[in-house]
Amino acid sequence: METKVLLPTKENIAKAGEALFNGQLVGIPTETVYGLAANALDGEAVKSIFAAKGRPADNPLIVHISDISQIERFHLVSEIPEAAEKLMAAYWPGPLTIIMKKGDVPSEVTAGLDTVAVRFPSHPVTKKIITAANCPLAAPSANTSGKPSPTTAEHVFHDMNGKIPYIVDGGACEVGVESTVITVAGDVPVLLRPGGITPEQLEAVLGHIEIADAVLNQLKEGETAASPGMKYKHYAPSAKITLIKSSDEKYIEYVNAHKDEGAAALCYDEDVPFLSVKTYPYGAKNDYESQANRIFDVLRQMDDDGAGIVYGRCPDTNGTAMAVYNRLIRAAGFEVIELA
Ligand code: TXA
Ligand code: MG
Repeated sequence: METKVLLPTKENIAKAGEALFNGQLVGIPTETVYGLAANALDGEAVKSIFAAKGRPADNPLIVHISDISQIERFHLVSEIPEAAEKLMAAYWPGPLTIIMKKGDVPSEVTAGLDTVAVRFPSHPVTKKIITAANCPLAAPSANTSGKPSPTTAEHVFHDMNGKIPYIVDGGACEVGVESTVITVAGDVPVLLRPGGITPEQLEAVLGHIEIADAVLNQLKEGETAASPGMKYKHYAPSAKITLIKSSDEKYIEYVNAHKDEGAAALCYDEDVPFLSVKTYPYGAKNDYESQANRIFDVLRQMDDDGAGIVYGRCPDTNGTAMAVYNRLIRAAGFEVIELA
């Protein structure tokens, strides 16, 4: 199958919408990362997402809408809890996915769970595509399973060329990491995946929330993940990444001392002039938004270059940096060296 990259003209959006309505897969831009979309009400179409990505069938998908009224119109959930209403009012449309008890959604979407993840993206092109398709869209990130999420149409083409008919090019993603995922299906809201909406922003609306163990820590043998996606080794570049938790000086000293190993540095922008190895800067030290925006592109560049041993600066864990930490710690297979 030939994969066409479409600019978001009126005709092309209509074409993408029609393909989606008819059960085909389309790569779509969102403000977080690109998605691999299918008609969420068509179980067979949804199944083909899992095949194209090589995604384990027990990892559920997010349902994307372009208007809050679609939740009722398509009976996506059995009830909208008060906490969900507050979150929708504060952060939708935007990079926040809310998990609620499921309504009439095919089991392929929810991987057999009794809950469903719903998101209302803010990217103007995403909204137009969903509206043109006239159905909610199930969409995971449009990468091959285990690879960094795509933040440009080129990334999607790299992973999906020959597997899907269309990719709509909406430019580079603004947020750069996937949406925040929170469940309000239980008694207490639980953050399952950090993203563009920070824990601080969630607590401003909900009061105290819990943070699932797997957000910052490695799951122990036999422990079940609150969110199936967290048990997989995500974002695995081919390089062997080790994160270094230390001062600026100690990091620079450590990396330069490993120059002979052919090591590279996944560093802050400010470190670059002081390092004598190949550098992959992923943003400024105190600019968490820029780090989120660039991290996946940098991980892909490392792959393209065939980087072998990489020493990464361990991100902070507050604000938007929690999302960057959550992705990088997985890319590093939880290997962290702390230098006193
Ligand atoms: O920003 C995003 O969320 C992007 C764009 C395309 O919208 N999508 C995305 O989808 O990141 P995906 O499939 O790569 O990640 C969805 C995550 C997975 O970790 C999955 O396990 C979790 O959400 N999830 C989905 N439904 C769930 C449910 N009912 N209960 C618990 N976790 C769920
Ligand atoms: Mg993903």
